[in-house]
Amino acid sequence: MGADLKRLHTQFAWIARSVALAGAGLALAACRGPQSTFDPAGTESEKVLHLFWWMLGGAVLIWLFVMGLSVYATKVRPKAHSERTGTKLILWGGVAFPVVVLTVLLVFGLQMMPGFRAPADGPRIAVSGERFWWRVHYEAPDTPGVAKFLSGEGVPSANELWIPVGKRTEILLSSPDVIHSFWVPNIAGKVDTIPGRITRIVLDPTRTGTFHGICAEFCGDAHAQMRFVVKVVSEADFAARVEAERAPAAVLDHPGRTAFEANGCGACHQVRGTGSVGLVGPDLTHLASRETLGAGILPMTVDNIQRFIALTEHEKPGVQMPSFATLPQAETRSMAEWLETLK
Ligand code: CUA
Repeated sequence: MGADLKRLHTQFAWIARSVALAGAGLALAACRGPQSTFDPAGTESEKVLHLFWWMLGGAVLIWLFVMGLSVYATKVRPKAHSERTGTKLILWGGVAFPVVVLTVLLVFGLQMMPGFRAPADGPRIAVSGERFWWRVHYEAPDTPGVAKFLSGEGVPSANELWIPVGKRTEILLSSPDVIHSFWVPNIAGKVDTIPGRITRIVLDPTRTGTFHGICAEFCGDAHAQMRFVVKVVSEADFAARVEAERAPAAVLDHPGRTAFEANGCGACHQVRGTGSVGLVGPDLTHLASRETLGAGILPMTVDNIQRFIALTEHEKPGVQMPSFATLPQAETRSMAEWLETLK
């Protein structure tokens, strides 16, 4: 009977170990991907991950030590200790030890920061956190304000950020109304966009690829749907992209354009080369050249553009754009078809 129990216990332990290992494997697998701090693609994110592993290792050691002490005090030597021993434990374990550990961590963290703040040698791009999308201006002037964006300086785009690999791109961040936080987990840490101020972050990507950016500060109803796509490309591809963004809209003659203008869409959206010059919402001049629609929430297809126009509030609750659900389907379809030609 004893042997049976022992075998059962061994089997149970083996199953428990397998499940734990499989779980850890799955968890680690989920750590890779286009929106993960565990899959670094930038010099800053590499350093931050390095710091994280050191902190995690230290935390595990300290946890094991404290658990060991608890076992010692409750199982090994459960009798009362002298007051002198108690005082010594508090002074060494509760005062001296944390002061030393936190000082080492502080110095380790602080010495990383000058590298993050080092000057950029790549392009300068202005990004403004809007409700609830990202205004992008390539070739930004040195100290852009929202007023300068609105007057049309630089090359406007939205919700997709192209940057060259191997260059330190300076991102100038601002916001016209509420605080957001600009974060591309694979490439760097996060920095807030603060109304009335310009904050800066340097993106220094180490490999090409497509990554996801997010807003990391609660900013309103659609906060969780305030995403963007980051394309890290070669310097030549970056230059070509900026030139493509600079050009006016490609297709000017289309019934969808007539519907777009007749319904007043141009009061909020700009389509360069047409009479639509609104600067409230995202620039749509090259809308269809982006991978996503609605600030990273839908794939860019004609069907999705039509849905977004007709059921805006449904697709993105809290969005500032009203739903155009009362328009005839043929009209929203035609608008979507025109917008889909704007590569
Ligand atoms: Cu913008 Cu959260």
